[in-house]
Amino acid sequence: MSAGMGDPHIVVSGVGKVFATGGRDVVALQDIDLAIPRGQFVCLLGPSGCGKSTLLNAVAGFALPSTGTIVADGQPVAAPGPERGMVFQEYALFPWMTVEDNIAFGLQIKGQPKGQIRATVDKLLAMLSLADFRQRYPKDLSGGMRQRVAIARVLALDSPIMLMDEPFGALDALTRRNLQDELLRIWSELRKTIIFVTHSIEEAIYLADRIVVMTYRPGTIKRDILVDLPRLRDPAAADFNALKRELGLLVMEEQQRHHHDELRLAAVD
Ligand SMILES: Nc1ncnc2c1ncn2[C@@H]1O[C@H](COP(=O)(O)OP(=O)(O)OP(=O)(O)O)[C@@H](O)[C@H]1O
Ligand SMILES: [Mg+2]
Repeated sequence: MSAGMGDPHIVVSGVGKVFATGGRDVVALQDIDLAIPRGQFVCLLGPSGCGKSTLLNAVAGFALPSTGTIVADGQPVAAPGPERGMVFQEYALFPWMTVEDNIAFGLQIKGQPKGQIRATVDKLLAMLSLADFRQRYPKDLSGGMRQRVAIARVLALDSPIMLMDEPFGALDALTRRNLQDELLRIWSELRKTIIFVTHSIEEAIYLADRIVVMTYRPGTIKRDILVDLPRLRDPAAADFNALKRELGLLVMEEQQRHHHDELRLAAVD
């Protein structure tokens, strides 16, 4: 699938976001236009502070843009909604609930019948290799396991759109690769539309159909690249590394702007 083909599932038009802090305006996003076809796996890539979370939160409906519009699943985004599930970096689980109750929670809120909830929870426990942990509490799980529960919880609601903000950022390399592979498997099975934020170039290339590289302040789209390498991708392969080099240069330019900005601000203070 290529960018712009098919029925766009998420359409971001002319989006800007300005934060007023300490008497000066920070232009976090400016002129963002993005049409994401149904089922596409998009990674937002860029250095710290370039507006990745701001854009994701705007699509999620947590913090609306200052200008422009976002349409998701055919509806203008004005608030969070069940068609857009969000997975955060810090595992947003209820510590007083078991794994299975955490996964079931959203379905109970929706008032689904008990039997149906049980069936969904069982399926997700199996899908994410959590069956042996269903009665445990989050504090008794590793970071990787907790993140699996967080993903299962979003999948339980069966949102066609999944928004993920550096969900694997806090995990060790092996656990991270493991969860990346599981996410790819789930995505190819369930065909969700995914926007996945990362500042890891390798993670973006490993996962995405499409990588959107952002500039630092104002946050704009610097490059929009389709990744047509076959999956599962081999990070040691030549074409993987060629893309890694290309993206490395793009991200580095923005990182340097970030660095200069910090030096300039330090000089003013
Ligand atoms: N609530 C806020 N109030 C003021 N400024 C904010 C707020 N949220 C974000 N910003 C600023 O907007 C810019 C973009 O922030 P954002 O968190 O979207 O970046 P990011 O790309 O997600 O960075 P990171 O990789 O560190 O998570 C930054 O300069 C940040 O300081
Ligand atoms: Mg962020």
